[in-house]
Amino acid sequence: MMRICVVGAGYVGLATAVMFGKLGHEVVCADKDRDRVRTVKSGKIPFHEPYLERELAKLVKKRILSATDAAAQAVEDSNFIFICVQTPSLASGRIDTRPVKLASKTVGKGLRDADDYKVIVMKSTVVPSTTDSVVKPIVEEASGKTSSEDFGLCMNPEFLQEGHALKDSMQPSRIVVGSEDRRAGNLLMGLYESIVAPKIMTDLRSAEMIKYASNTGLATKISFANEIANMCVRIGIDSEPVLKAVGMDPRIGPQFLKPGLGFGGSCLPKDVRALLDKAKSEGYESRLLASILAINEQQPLEGIRLLENAIGDLSGKRIAVLGLSFKGGVDDIRETRAIPLIRELRDRKAKVVAYDPMAIGSFKKVMPRIEYATSAAECIRSADGCIVQADWAEFKHLGSSAFRRMKNPVVVDGRRFLDPDTVRKAGAKYLGVGYGTPGQQ
Ligand SMILES: NC(=O)c1ccc[n+]([C@@H]2O[C@H](COP(=O)([O-])OP(=O)(O)OC[C@H]3O[C@@H](n4cnc5c(N)ncnc54)[C@H](O)[C@@H]3O)[C@@H](O)[C@H]2O)c1
Repeated sequence: MMRICVVGAGYVGLATAVMFGKLGHEVVCADKDRDRVRTVKSGKIPFHEPYLERELAKLVKKRILSATDAAAQAVEDSNFIFICVQTPSLASGRIDTRPVKLASKTVGKGLRDADDYKVIVMKSTVVPSTTDSVVKPIVEEASGKTSSEDFGLCMNPEFLQEGHALKDSMQPSRIVVGSEDRRAGNLLMGLYESIVAPKIMTDLRSAEMIKYASNTGLATKISFANEIANMCVRIGIDSEPVLKAVGMDPRIGPQFLKPGLGFGGSCLPKDVRALLDKAKSEGYESRLLASILAINEQQPLEGIRLLENAIGDLSGKRIAVLGLSFKGGVDDIRETRAIPLIRELRDRKAKVVAYDPMAIGSFKKVMPRIEYATSAAECIRSADGCIVQADWAEFKHLGSSAFRRMKNPVVVDGRRFLDPDTVRKAGAKYLGVGYGTPGQQ
């Protein structure tokens, strides 16, 4: 049994903490946000991940997992320290390393009076060279100790997807451990001994790059699918069977190959931007990464174009937007495509009414002036058209009576997840993004 300290009790920190708790280790979550600490102590989590919350509650009850705002003390008492703080985008696209720097300083302070060998693990997504050129000197200075001698330094990227954070942590597609030296790398890999997954050991910078290359790969697939779909629409082809057949090639694969309104969330947009910026700072202009982002930026317009083709000028029209989170099943609105979508609708003088099963509270802080409905059925009532922005399962169950109450039953499926026949049987006109059959638009 090891003692583990997780600095940063967000999606990644809490999934990591619960995973190690379930593997039999004693875990303390250290966060500077006192409300968050109180929430975790009471067996709850500050976002919607029901399975993670259930398992966390069990560990808190058994006193295997605890939380504190006294991070340095928690570090001193632990064998492994995972840094899981946020790394958001700055306006330039570069990551904001201030939370990482602050966390590194706290970790260093916690190391100062400790006399045992500890392994510091960077789990936040950071551009290649951050762990050795930013984290390491700060920890060394604050602790007065030397990396590779007095403590170990690793980089262990996280690949979880929100919505199934704990499952992805317990059953990962791969475990990547980058380390400065073999001792630290072997100790960290040992912690993952009972997890069955391909395991890759590498150096710090390669581990950092693996995370960016992976997310850029996913973003590339999405923008590729959207680019093909945009061409299909204009040629008069439905992109769905096209992309389905393309995805059957095992060298390409079916996942992330659906047309839609673009990718959002806390990772893909910021990670592509950060790698683009890093490449630029090294004297390399990545035209591919710039194009991935450019396609993504204009993708919400594809949904609006479909709607305008069906109902004409949007000025003064009541448009329902279903789904505000960046995808169905989560309450996270970071970089959600709902924001540029609604901005575009408002620029066209449409009256927007929006609904989301979980994200209205946080969305209101970003867009206080639009109208909000209390259910999907209420949202589309009397609407001149509707755009489905996030793939929430409950939108599949909208019945004929709900669609009949629309002023103009036109549904733009921005995620291509509704069953077109069900929507049509309910008396509404179905328009999926990437659908270009002549006469249907
Ligand atoms: N969310 C995801 O799906 C996901 C997946 C893979 C990787 N990542 C990466 O993991 C990192 C964390 O992401 P997240 O979504 O879990 O972030 P988050 O915003 O949900 O949580 C970060 C937490 O760190 C805390 N924190 C910040 N500075 C601190 C400090 N100095 N001391 C103690 N606590 C501090 C914050 O209060 C917050 O609770 C990011 O680099 C992100 O890119 C995220």
